[in-house]
Amino acid sequence: MEINGKHILVTGGASGLGAACVELLQAHGANVTIFDQKSEENIEHTRGTNQVYHQVDITNETEVTIALDAAIESNGALHGVINCAGIGSAKKVLSNKGPHDLETFQKVIEVNLIGTFNMLRLSAERMKSHDPTDTGERGVIINTASIAAYDGQIGQAAYSASKGGITSLTLPAARELANAGIRVVSIAPGVFDTPLFGALPEEARSHLEQLTPFPKRLGNPREFAELALHIFQNSMINGETIRLDGAIRMPAK
Ligand SMILES: NC(=O)c1ccc[n+]([C@@H]2O[C@H](COP(=O)([O-])OP(=O)(O)OC[C@H]3O[C@@H](n4cnc5c(N)ncnc54)[C@H](O)[C@@H]3O)[C@@H](O)[C@H]2O)c1
Repeated sequence: MEINGKHILVTGGASGLGAACVELLQAHGANVTIFDQKSEENIEHTRGTNQVYHQVDITNETEVTIALDAAIESNGALHGVINCAGIGSAKKVLSNKGPHDLETFQKVIEVNLIGTFNMLRLSAERMKSHDPTDTGERGVIINTASIAAYDGQIGQAAYSASKGGITSLTLPAARELANAGIRVVSIAPGVFDTPLFGALPEEARSHLEQLTPFPKRLGNPREFAELALHIFQNSMINGETIRLDGAIRMPAK
């Protein structure tokens, strides 16, 4: 799908991987809508002319419904969604303080998995109602999984479960939405240099860099955005989760 003039929504677009997508999409002429729970003053990137911002919790059905309809009203028919909103967590199943609390597990599943699914289902409903492009496409939905879906480390039970859920729903959603001309693809990033990792001590950062076969560095958020852009442009990519990780395979801890 050609990006220029299309309406693309980015969740988590105020920061990190989402912010990089917003910048790249704008540079390619897209009308971009951002959904983020942060208020607009806290956005990381430059304000584009064709940019609409909504402070939205992606897990909230009412907020998402209202904001989606308002975004379509101002930015036109929705052609794409990049789901970047997500949270991390590091807790053992059983530590010397006792078992993993259910509240944290539920919160991570709620934001990362249910929030992503909430965006997918409500966006697909709106994409289905507009005319397809001349190649028969109505939309592209890109979800952000993680390599933790495959090589989850000790302490990542909740996070890995949430990202594994995203990976597993990619194919059935793509199969189902194919008739509507909507593709569903997920990206599983390795370790990227975003605010999520910005607070890491130099030693931990350098350890992660050494674990990456090539290139021996953290990923640049722009490289994530470039893959998302390519997914929009290449109509054969569908129903798959793509690792973007410099061949890193995480050890147990
Ligand atoms: N950075 C990495 O190395 C890495 C690796 C693998 C996967 N990921 C995934 O990529 C995605 C983006 O990560 P990032 O590193 O850019 O993080 P980030 O913290 O920089 O950005 C995440 C954004 O999501 C927003 N958000 C969180 N919960 C939300 C909610 N309920 N509703 C709306 N917005 C919400 C936050 O406000 C924030 O702006 C996440 O899903 C993360 O799990 C990141």
